[in-house]
Amino acid sequence: MNKITIAIDGYSSTGKSTIAKQIAKTLDYIYVDSGAMYRAVTLYAIENGLITENNFYKEALISQLNNIELSFQFNKNLGYAEVYLNGQNVEHKIRTLQVSGFVSTIAAVPEVRQKLVVIQKKIGEDKGVVMDGRDIGTVVFPNAELKIFMTASAEKRAKRRYDELKQRGDDITYEAVLKNVTERDYIDTNREDSPLVKAEDAIEIDNSNLTLDEQFNKVLSLVKLTL
Ligand code: C5P
Repeated sequence: MNKITIAIDGYSSTGKSTIAKQIAKTLDYIYVDSGAMYRAVTLYAIENGLITENNFYKEALISQLNNIELSFQFNKNLGYAEVYLNGQNVEHKIRTLQVSGFVSTIAAVPEVRQKLVVIQKKIGEDKGVVMDGRDIGTVVFPNAELKIFMTASAEKRAKRRYDELKQRGDDITYEAVLKNVTERDYIDTNREDSPLVKAEDAIEIDNSNLTLDEQFNKVLSLVKLTL
């Protein structure tokens, strides 16, 4: 069967990655979490003192971009690829609220985006890929055969992310998560380079009131119509 490219974009914490992973597994496709790449660059910036509560040394980050090496390694137990920053598995470290707090600032830097989009396009060269993010259907794979745009109310999204972070033991409040989700949406939607916008040919799914099974079945039926 011919392989296609599936682009899943949408606001923060809409559950894109959960569905994308399930779809990739079902189709035996590669799943790529493009947000993890922006998060890994952000972690690099934090660990090297290039971004703090008060300062962002943008030029320094740009000049160090060549020092940042990102790779993915498939984890059989998890069933998806984990992200490595300069050889270190950072899958856990990139999901903190601290990284979430800075990531949209880092992701608004055109030089960062250029670097990561090159990697993303390369991974998708042979199709058979499900990639989620903010600009996958508009910039990374404008010719993707299937484009999904996921939305849900900010409160629902924050609640889901809060539950997820609590489950891994993070000490956070629902209010802090809601603030982060709405701030990121604002920056992601209003940045100049590749803002978050629904591609004209994307199919919108509002999953505020859908179970995971319902979302999965909906996307799978769209895949079947596309194949
Ligand atoms: O998907 P996730 O929420 O982990 O993404 C983290 C952040 O990375 C987003 O809020 C956004 O600022 C940035 N991002 C992006 N373009 C992508 C994927 C993520 O700008 N394709």
